[in-house]
Amino acid sequence: MRNVLVTGGAGFIGANFIRYLLTAEPQVHIFNLDALTYAGSLENLKDLPDPSRHTFIHGDICDSALVAGLLRQHKIDTLVHFAAESHVDRSIYGPAPFIQTNVVGTFTLLEAARQEWSGSGGFDGRRFHHVSTDEVFGSLGPEDPPFTEMTPYEPRSPYSASKAASDHLARAYFHTYGLPVTITNCSNNYGPYQFPEKLIPLMILNALQGKPLPVYGDGRQIRDWLYVEDHCEAIYLVLQQGIPGETYNVGGGNQPYNIDLVREICAILDEFHPQGAPHNRLITHVPDRPGHDRRYAMDTTKIRTQLGWAPRHQLESGLRATIAWYLSHEGWVQAILEQNDYQTWLERNYRQRGEK
Ligand code: NAD
Ligand code: DAU
Repeated sequence: MRNVLVTGGAGFIGANFIRYLLTAEPQVHIFNLDALTYAGSLENLKDLPDPSRHTFIHGDICDSALVAGLLRQHKIDTLVHFAAESHVDRSIYGPAPFIQTNVVGTFTLLEAARQEWSGSGGFDGRRFHHVSTDEVFGSLGPEDPPFTEMTPYEPRSPYSASKAASDHLARAYFHTYGLPVTITNCSNNYGPYQFPEKLIPLMILNALQGKPLPVYGDGRQIRDWLYVEDHCEAIYLVLQQGIPGETYNVGGGNQPYNIDLVREICAILDEFHPQGAPHNRLITHVPDRPGHDRRYAMDTTKIRTQLGWAPRHQLESGLRATIAWYLSHEGWVQAILEQNDYQTWLERNYRQRGEK
């Protein structure tokens, strides 16, 4: 691994991964291709550990000439593909960008890698890593066993359907062309730099502003939460030791009800920010997300036994670190809150649910 193309590196997980890789691999140069949609921000790339080994390229993964040029010009040997439209609620209001970026964009990258790499030295020593989600497997009932790598795909939102399509394309490029593809399917991430449309940062920032904490439906949905650094480590291990053609499930083994998670965030905030206590008085149940998946859980036996990965963070310590990060990064928070798109999104998603 010397010249790495990261897509979506100005987003939440991509930016964390770039920090992780710059530290873990002192020789590597990272080329970061990101369209800077509402979810991407150069604020996420300030104070990188070694900025001289990071080059930012503002562009779209659907631009095949741009992607091919980057692979060729920078002799890319490793492509780590994070770029996506990633928010389920937005996919319900407007699925078109999800199909464009997640399906057409992934196809564009796969095709460029196939053509460029087969025309210059072949696939040896090269890797295309596709970052995907547990949501492709659908929704579990209360007694169902966790998802394994063999669980059939049953996506239920435009977001998860578009991610499932991209996974199928990535697998097809391995089987048909021998492109050295690996895939990780990961559960819900949380941690620094997460855009506050997602549950955990939304609850933290709303609570700090004394705003309602909107819990969808009965709040008894279950997600499997993983601290983002643990996800980055899993991807790094798969890049080093993963077998082309294989997929790896990644998850935190934490499965609280949403409502209990929100209560836990409130309890930590009471300690860190006592002037707003008790924060749980702000919890408000609002109408549910259409087609809301009830429960996810990941069986991570494969990556644990084959690659020796295990999460380093427990949910409580990860939440405390995350809340401390949001409290100590006022500049970042202010820049994100002031984005026009963010306020428009809050209006759109929550006003019709009876929230301000
Ligand atoms: P994010 O929404 O925070 O960031 C996405 C990034 O992709 C942004 O920087 C955005 O500008 C960029 N982008 C979007 N469209 C683009 C395009 N057409 N061309 C170039 N760049 C574009 O997403 P995230 O939460 O960091 O997720 C990253 C990846 O991980 C996604 O593929 C997502 O499906 C997957 N994933 C996320 C989670 C999670 O909990 N957040 C869990 C499992 C898997
Ligand atoms: O499971 C992995 C997926 O996790 C990723 O693939 C997605 O990119 C990521 O966005 C995330 O999807 P979720 O829909 O699970 O995440 P979100 O943070 O939007 O919601 C988490 C849970 O909280 C879900 O059950 C919906 C609920 N929720 C969410 C919001 C934003 C609320 O109750 N209220 C809210 O305001």
